[in-house]
Amino acid sequence: MSWKNANRDAFSAFMCDETALDTLRSVVVDMGWAPEKCHRGGLRNAIQSLSITASPNILMVDLSESGDPLNDINALAEVCEPGTVVIAVGQVNDVRLYRDLIASGIQDYLLKPLNPGQIRDALVQAQTIFTAPKNHDAGTAKRHVSTAIVGTRGGVGASTLATSIAWLFSTDHKLPTALLDLDVHFGTGALTLDLEPGRGLTDAIDNPSRIDGLFIERAMIRANDNLAILSAEAPISAPLMTDGSAFVQLEEEFRHAFEMTVIDMPRNMLINFPHLLSDVNVVIVATELTLAGARDAIRLLSWLKTNAAHARPIIVANKIQVGANEISKSDFEASIERKINFMVPYDIKGASNAAKLGQTFVAANRSTKAGGVLRDVAQMIIGSVDEEGATNADNGADKRKASLLGKFDLKKMLATKPKAGAPA
Ligand SMILES: Nc1ncnc2c1ncn2[C@@H]1O[C@H](COP(=O)(O)OP(=O)(O)OP(=O)(O)O)[C@@H](O)[C@H]1O
Ligand SMILES: [Mg+2]
Repeated sequence: MSWKNANRDAFSAFMCDETALDTLRSVVVDMGWAPEKCHRGGLRNAIQSLSITASPNILMVDLSESGDPLNDINALAEVCEPGTVVIAVGQVNDVRLYRDLIASGIQDYLLKPLNPGQIRDALVQAQTIFTAPKNHDAGTAKRHVSTAIVGTRGGVGASTLATSIAWLFSTDHKLPTALLDLDVHFGTGALTLDLEPGRGLTDAIDNPSRIDGLFIERAMIRANDNLAILSAEAPISAPLMTDGSAFVQLEEEFRHAFEMTVIDMPRNMLINFPHLLSDVNVVIVATELTLAGARDAIRLLSWLKTNAAHARPIIVANKIQVGANEISKSDFEASIERKINFMVPYDIKGASNAAKLGQTFVAANRSTKAGGVLRDVAQMIIGSVDEEGATNADNGADKRKASLLGKFDLKKMLATKPKAGAPA
C-alpha cells in the first residue's frame, strides 16, 4: 500500500513527439510543476521508468506509438502505484477505445493535436481527483440503475414514459435521478416539465472533455429536489456533430452523481452509438399495437440481444384502446415471441391534462388507470435490479435469472408474423 508520500513527484509525462512536449511543458510550468518531468518517449518508456522509480501523483502517457494500447495500459498498471491518476494521450478518435481505457482505470483520454486549454482542464481535474477522498477504491461503489427508453416507432409515447418514470423515481421513490434526453433536436423532456432546456447538453456535445461533476451540477436543469434534466432544442439547421463520447462521458458522471439514470433514447441513436447501451441495466421497449410496431419490436429485441445482452428488456404497449388496436395483444405477443409486460391505456384526457398543467403524464394523472400502470413500470425497474442483486453484493442468488428474458430465439419470428396488415 502506498500513501501520497513526499517521494512522489506531483507530475510526470511521457510524450512521443516534440510538438506535444512543447505544448505540455508550457502548461506544466503554469501549474507550478517541473518541466523536466515531461520526458520524450511513449507508454513503453513510462513502464520502464516506473518499474524503477516511485510513481507520480499524476501521470500523462502518450499511446501514439503503442500497437496495443489496452494491453500496454495493463502492463503500466502493474508497475504504477495505486492512487496515481493516469491521463492518456493519443491520435485515435474512437469511442470504443475511449471507453475501454476509462474502464481500465484511465482518468481521461486526450486527442492529439493537444491544445493548452484541454491539457489544463484535464490536469486540474486530475489534481482534484488525486486529492479527493478515495471512497470508490474501498469497494463502496454506489448502486446505480440506468434505464433507456426506446420507441419501436415514432410517437408511440417513449418520451411520455421516460419523463413519467424519471418523475416517479424522483418523487415516489425519492431517488436522485438524472433524465438524459438524447433527442437532441426534437426532445420534449424539458418541455413536458415546463422548463427551458438551456445549453447544457449542447455544451456537453461540443466539449466532451469539460464533462465532470461540476459541469453536471451547473448544466443540468432541476425539475424537483431529486430530478435533474439534461436536454436540448438544437437548431434544426445544426446537424448533430459528435462521435458519441460526450454521451458516454455523461452516463459515466451520472453513475457517480445519481442513483437512477433515465435515457430517452431515439432509435437512430442506438444505430449510431450502440456503445450508449453498454452500461444500461434496463431497456424499456415502448410500442403501440401495430404491424410496424411488431416488426420493429422484433428487430429491436434482436438487436438488444446481440448488442446489450446484459440489459433487461421490458415491453410496454402504450395507447391501448379496447377493441381498437391495429393488432391484438395475443397476435402481437405471438409475433414477438414474448409477453408484453405492461399495457398503458389510451387516455387523451390524461395527455391533455398533463399538457395543460406542464407536468409529466404520471404526475398529472395519479389516480387514473394509466398512471397506475406507469407506477408499476417504475416499480418493476427498481425491483428487477433488486432481483438480479446489486453488482457489488455477492450473496444475491440467481443473479442472471432476469437475463433469461433476453434468451428467446427470434429467428423464426418474421415467418410467424400475423398478416394483420392484409386487407380483409
Ligand atoms: N397513453 C396515452 N394516451 C394518450 N396520449 C398519449 C399516451 N401516451 C402518449 N401520448 C401522447 O402521444 C404523443 C406522443 O408521445 P411522445 O412524445 O411521448 O412519443 P415519442 O415516442 O417520444 O415520440 P417521438 O418519436 O416524437 O420521440 C404526445 O402528445 C403524448 O401526450
Ligand atoms: Mg420522444
